[in-house]
Amino acid sequence: MEFFLDTADTAEIAALSEILPIDGVTTNPTILSKSGKKPADFFAELEGVLTPEQKIIAQVIAPDKEGMLADARKINQIRGGKNIVVKIPVTTEGYKAMKAAVAEGISVLATGIYSPDQAFWAAKIGVDYLAPYVNRMDNYGDGVGQVAELIQTLKQYGMKAKVCAASFKNTAQVHKLLAAGTPAITVNPAVVRAMIGHLGTPFAVDQFNADWQAAYGTCELGL
Ligand code: G3P
Repeated sequence: MEFFLDTADTAEIAALSEILPIDGVTTNPTILSKSGKKPADFFAELEGVLTPEQKIIAQVIAPDKEGMLADARKINQIRGGKNIVVKIPVTTEGYKAMKAAVAEGISVLATGIYSPDQAFWAAKIGVDYLAPYVNRMDNYGDGVGQVAELIQTLKQYGMKAKVCAASFKNTAQVHKLLAAGTPAITVNPAVVRAMIGHLGTPFAVDQFNADWQAAYGTCELGL
């Protein structure tokens, strides 16, 4: 399975990549614009903190098919088509752009998905990833359950598209999607840190150290 960071914070990407096996980075126009960086500067910075094997997944900006396709080609060229994935939203124009981009051999992630039906059609087009917005779907109903069902639907038809579950506000949503077998997921750094930062662990480690120190008068292993 693939675990991506959903962020444009390159310092956090570098820090978390040192701690965890991160498979790449996803951004969207909101995330990137909030970083305050120029797009070209951001991608140059990103290359500095990622290995070539870690994927970059970036989104088109244009609203119409031809514009999206032009954006998709530019994004694809950032890495000469290797380990680069283009996010295209599931608007009417977006579906047209997806069909054209897939036909050109560009790796596509269908984004802005609020319903399993939108995801199904993008999968039928032949995209590589589908990004259902789990938390935003949860605002309307059972987003976690709908995405878990989508994973099964894709399996049932042997479709190649992988769910890349996105839009998380808490670790419980992430946990449930992992338990449902999501093949890919993108999570913001704050929620990733919450996944690994249980307060009980330092408490346990402090106790181990105190017991060792009391028994042996040192913090060394002594072997
Ligand atoms: O990757 C899509 C995601 O960034 C949307 O997340 O938190 O804006 O719902 P959010």
